[in-house]
Amino acid sequence: TAESENNEEKNDMVIARTAVIGSGLMGAGIAEVLAKSGCDVIVSEVSDDAVAAGRARIEKSLAKAVEKGKLSAAESEAALSRLRFTTDIADLADRQLVIEAASENEDIKKAIFAQLDEVVTDPTAILASNTSSMPIIRFAQATSRPERVLGIHFFNPAPVQPLVEIVSSVLTDPEVAETATTFVTEVLGKAPVQASDRPGFIVNALLIPYLCSAIRMLEAGLATKEDIDTGMVKGCAHPMGPIALADLVGIDTCLFAAESIYTETGDPAAKPPVLLSRMVDAGLLGVKSGRGFYEY
Ligand code: CAA
Repeated sequence: TAESENNEEKNDMVIARTAVIGSGLMGAGIAEVLAKSGCDVIVSEVSDDAVAAGRARIEKSLAKAVEKGKLSAAESEAALSRLRFTTDIADLADRQLVIEAASENEDIKKAIFAQLDEVVTDPTAILASNTSSMPIIRFAQATSRPERVLGIHFFNPAPVQPLVEIVSSVLTDPEVAETATTFVTEVLGKAPVQASDRPGFIVNALLIPYLCSAIRMLEAGLATKEDIDTGMVKGCAHPMGPIALADLVGIDTCLFAAESIYTETGDPAAKPPVLLSRMVDAGLLGVKSGRGFYEY
């Protein structure tokens, strides 16, 4: 029937033209993953300085992948050749998939989705957010096509962690979630899970209270940061302890995620420790700023 042919056509949709908004810690990693998977990628940034920093982040990570034997020099070159940078979001007009990875600020993200809605011409394009804990529905409602909006949430470092959370809002078309899931599995070679549009989705709903508990333990003077980390690494076979992981995730990201989980659920374990706020005010943001709980 015409309908089944139509469905087949939809499921065969090949996503080749992609974009990432923001080239910070997560945006750069996601852009790298897309480019290594053969996609054409445009990275949209706010300034020439931000473009230079984003490009340097991606080049550094690709060089590390080559050094670790994960990638050949030729593959790294090919990935770089698939990446373009712009400071004009209008350049994303022909994209089939856009992943927003701007700062965790709701107003900024809403404004970006409203702009994407104006500039992206393909009505079947998928507009995704990599937010770690903000409601996807609010970004969906900033567009005229909320059914095409969902969360595609990567884990840090994106080139290394296999997991991707596919987050459907109450208005996401199930076919959009299916297309995103197939893309993440078959093109990116990552492991997707389906999550609901609830604070922290699956992983951060569990991880953030754990990180906050570790920081409270440190704040209360019950153990040193080294011993807390050693405890979880040597006792539970985690690749890194919670204090070092908070630094890797970013102290600001931990604070924003904790605030949004705590505000919406009242989960006392997610109540942001005061120390997190003070560290953010002090610019001690973890690995990305050179100093958090540890120095880098
Ligand atoms: N590109 C490709 N591969 C890379 C790479 C890169 N840039 N950098 C490292 N790798 C690979 C290495 O080759 C190595 O692979 P093998 O194990 O196959 O040899 C592996 O990644 C580990 O790398 P390293 O040996 O260099 O480093 P490490 O052993 O010190 O591990 C780590 C570093 C990957 C960060 C590891 O400690 C780890 O997985 N930590 C936990 C991280 C985590 O929990 N992340 C989730 C945070 S939560 C989040 O992100 C969600 C949110 O919204 C807040």
